[in-house]
Parts: sequence; C-alpha cells; structure tokens
Amino acid sequence: MKKIEAVIRVEKLQDVTDELEKFGCPGMMVTHIEGHGRQKGISEQFRGREYKLNFIPKIKIEIIAKDTDVDRIVQLITDIAKTGEIGDGKIFIYPVDNVVRIRTREKGECAV
Ligand SMILES: Nc1ncnc2c1ncn2[C@@H]1O[C@H](COP(=O)(O)OP(=O)(O)OP(=O)(O)O)[C@@H](O)[C@H]1O
Ligand SMILES: [Mg+2]
Repeated sequence: MKKIEAVIRVEKLQDVTDELEKFGCPGMMVTHIEGHGRQKGISEQFRGREYKLNFIPKIKIEIIAKDTDVDRIVQLITDIAKTGEIGDGKIFIYPVDNVVRIRTREKGECAV
C-alpha cells in the first residue's frame, strides 16, 4: 500500500475529486493548505490575482491505495491537475505499513 499525497491548485479540486470518485477511489482526505515551491518569493497567479506572498493557497489530497492502483491514480491526478503553468503542484508517494479499519478490526489491503 502507498500513500499518495497530491498538492494541487484550489480550482482543480472539484475536477480531480470527481474523477477520483469515478475511478473508485476507496477514500480520501482533503485539506486546504498554504505552501510554496521552488519559486519562493516570486509571484504566482491565483484566481486571477497575482500573489507576492511567501505562501499560496493549495489543496492537499491524501489517498491510501493498493500498490496496483497507485500508477493509475497518479496519472489521473496529473492529467487533470496540469495546466502547464508554474504552481501546478506536486505528488508525493510514501510506503504505508498497515491500515486498520476500526469498526471491523480488518487490517492490510482489505481495510483500505
Ligand atoms: N519540496 C516540497 N516540499 C513540500 N511541499 C512542496 C514542495 N514542493 C512543492 N510543495 C508544495 O506544493 C505546492 C505547489 O508547488 P509547485 O507546483 O509550485 O512546485 P514547484 O517545484 O515550484 O514546481 P513549478 O516550477 O511547476 O511551480 C507548494 O505550494 C507546496 O505546498
Ligand atoms: Mg512553483
């Protein structure tokens, strides 16, 4: 199992999550965050405004997925979240040791 942590543009949230639901994503966490990438201190467009702040609003989507689904989920997010402009975001992928569904005490992939 892997954790897919995608940082995307706020305006891409709906499209990305719609497609993830269609794909059959077992679950997800969505957080409104602020951050910056490598253009720290350089302005970036957000909703038609130019930000010269150190931190720009973004969305973080976290998904725990079976190894066999990871590539397709990453591809799907990339296809929809990409505009080609700076600030499109990034996807981080981490190994996950275990998952426990509290209600049933199931563990591992069947608890995802
Ligand atoms: N190295 C990093 N560590 C943690 N968070 C990061 C990192 N790089 C990017 N992020 C997060 O992703 C968001 C978007 O990053 P961004 O797309 O600007 O990355 P970038 O490397 O600057 O790429 P680009 O050149 O396309 O802008 C940042 O606001 C931040 O929340
Ligand atoms: Mg950047």
